[in-house]
Amino acid sequence: MTDPKMLLSLQFMNGYGSQPGSWRMPGANLHSYTDLDVYVKYAQAAERGKIQTLFFVDTPALENDISTAVPHHSMDPLVILTAIARETERIGLVMTASTTFNEPYTLARQFKALDVASHGRAGWNAVTTSNPAAAANFGSAVPPRAEKYARAHEVVQVVQALWGSWQPDAWVLDIATGRFADTDKIQPVNLQGQYVASRGPLPIPPSEQGQPVIFQAGGGDNGLELAARYATGVYANPFTIEEGIAHRSALRDAAQRAGRDPDEVKLFAGFMPTVAASRRAALDRRRFLDESIDLEQRVRHLGAMLNLDLDPAQLDEPLTADQVARIHTSPMDPRSPRAASIAREGWSLRDVIAHGVIDYHPVVPGTAEEVADHMQAWFEAGACDGFSLAIDAYHDGIDAFVDEVVPILQQRGIYHHDYDGTTLREHLSAPAQYGVDQRVVGARQ
Ligand SMILES: Cc1cc2nc3c(=O)[nH]c(=O)nc-3n(C[C@H](O)[C@H](O)[C@H](O)COP(=O)(O)O)c2cc1C
Repeated sequence: MTDPKMLLSLQFMNGYGSQPGSWRMPGANLHSYTDLDVYVKYAQAAERGKIQTLFFVDTPALENDISTAVPHHSMDPLVILTAIARETERIGLVMTASTTFNEPYTLARQFKALDVASHGRAGWNAVTTSNPAAAANFGSAVPPRAEKYARAHEVVQVVQALWGSWQPDAWVLDIATGRFADTDKIQPVNLQGQYVASRGPLPIPPSEQGQPVIFQAGGGDNGLELAARYATGVYANPFTIEEGIAHRSALRDAAQRAGRDPDEVKLFAGFMPTVAASRRAALDRRRFLDESIDLEQRVRHLGAMLNLDLDPAQLDEPLTADQVARIHTSPMDPRSPRAASIAREGWSLRDVIAHGVIDYHPVVPGTAEEVADHMQAWFEAGACDGFSLAIDAYHDGIDAFVDEVVPILQQRGIYHHDYDGTTLREHLSAPAQYGVDQRVVGARQ
């Protein structure tokens, strides 16, 4: 048996990039937010790199201040992925949708239609959503956590039951007998939970992978239990190898407790590479991107991470010897040891920040080799099964990753050279599943 290979997922936010200033980059298409051709081009580049799946993050709200920064999310991932499905052949198409603010019938129908239209490449990142702005868009408030997760279990099970409401051979299409479908094999699901219900059936036959693959992201112990029962892929935010190992092993243990093989669940660690000819060039790229963020606030944040009272006037100076001697890393922030070690190297505070020490995923600004080194170290340590790539600015950052980092990973024998199959389920080596997973259904009240 060959060693498992690293899996890759390309995060899509808004069409521009993961960094707030990505829209201002020279060469970026200013209308990337609304231009489907741009998304298609990036998806095709990811497919050239044999990346297993695209992944649209999403919250149904305009979450952030867009006076200078790009939106956190796209217009509507379903519309964009439908366009991408038409122009790509192999890459998986994962999008996020809330279990709190959607009805299972709508979710089941939309994801299954995408799955069929893409010939078995759809995945659903099922999240509970914690943003009050999203709740307000549905005229409600964010429910208590226990309720959100109880509902999430019901929603996933009802969705999967609906996906299985056509038996695989129900669509007959027999011209000779005049039979379009065998309606004995298309049956209601008649599910009534405490929070959601649906009669069914769906009006959609199975896809080449049967039904979409489930992903999950975040949410502490509750999220872990949700992922352990239903997810094939989990999007996670470890900042260190140790955190990755701990999360992955907790996830695998929870999957086993739920009656599944731990290898069925893959952890994707969020990662932000900035690929350039040198560390200096990568830092300069990030410094340009950082012009759209509040650097004074970042300096204060850095000070809090190092337990120093830093003045924004020091932005273009390194820490003084006295300040270095007084660094205390914060036990509350797993990013602070790296911030301390970069600061001790003598970079200006602007460059320390450009290293991404305050970003929401680990950042490697450097050469393709340095980026590959980081990924190899995490993967081989068992800190993840793969990465969810948050590319700084898509217009040239996706190509840089695909054309420079991917070949190194391939040469090192840790990443595949081509897709083995055609469906997302095959890309993830996920077992066949149709309808609910009988091993886990009913295991939770
Ligand atoms: C890596 C990662 C990605 C996430 N992506 C999304 C997302 O795209 N949309 C969303 O609404 N929430 C997203 N979340 C948030 C979680 O779904 C969850 O709401 C959050 O962790 C709070 O947990 P709670 O629901 O238990 O309060 C993400 C969380 C993590 C860790």
